[in-house]
Amino acid sequence: MKKLLQSCLLLLMPLGVFAGGGMDLDSADYDLSDTKSLENGAYLYVQYCLGCHSTKYIRYLNLADDFGIKQQEILEKVAPEGAGIYDKMLTAMNGHDAKKWFGTQPPDLSLIARSRGADWLYSYLKGFYIDPARPLGVNNAIYPDVGMPNPLWKLQGKQKAVYKTVDGQEVITELVTEERGTMSAEEFDKSVNDIVNFLVYAGEPIQLERISMGKYVLFFILIFGVIAYLLKKEYWKDIH
Ligand code: HEC
Repeated sequence: MKKLLQSCLLLLMPLGVFAGGGMDLDSADYDLSDTKSLENGAYLYVQYCLGCHSTKYIRYLNLADDFGIKQQEILEKVAPEGAGIYDKMLTAMNGHDAKKWFGTQPPDLSLIARSRGADWLYSYLKGFYIDPARPLGVNNAIYPDVGMPNPLWKLQGKQKAVYKTVDGQEVITELVTEERGTMSAEEFDKSVNDIVNFLVYAGEPIQLERISMGKYVLFFILIFGVIAYLLKKEYWKDIH
């Protein structure tokens, strides 16, 4: 029994190791029923991420249909200039150039919210800090030595890491503002949440349909329940 318990504990260990890296994850506060947030997230994604990343399973048309927004509005407010409503959300960046510039290709982000989770994404996008030792001058507290520059630095400003020594190793305890960006901390958190909301949607677009379908299903069950009850009363009337 003790052996079994020990093996179970061992199985749990990698979770702790992956969660490590000094800082805990912040909780994302996203809401898939908030179409304003989804639209803003898609807009920010096109502005700040599409330059390098694709979400190849989503077309601009899907955004209009799923968010309940006019196609024209998506083209004018969200899609990049010149994009058509049937176009997929593909980056214009060439993979060879990306490899030369960043040492690796930026991955497609269609399923990133499912593989990494919303809290991880939220913390990662907020986790960049100045590090002159890195080729791009920034590092990330959640994904150490990542090859991506901070795409949101103009909005967020620049952050500095605060360290403490644990068992002879330096770990980051928090990130503090070194240079202010164009947004306040609250505005920035909201914007990152909107991007995360969009990426959670992109990972499983059918979720939105399921949520609206759920209401009809509940309504049907209710009506059906009433009919079934009335029928039962009618049948049992003669038996009593
Ligand atoms: C200038 C190009 C560039 C821009 C702009 C950019 N990224 Fe990246 N991104 C990269 C590169 C390159 C990598 C791969 C880094 C690595 O593996 O070291 C990456 C990796 C990532 C990862 C980690 C994927 C994994 O391995 O789990 C996420 C998440 C991500 N980007 C999200 C975003 C989001 C969201 C935006 C917009 C707010 C964005 N990126 C903007 C270049 C970019």
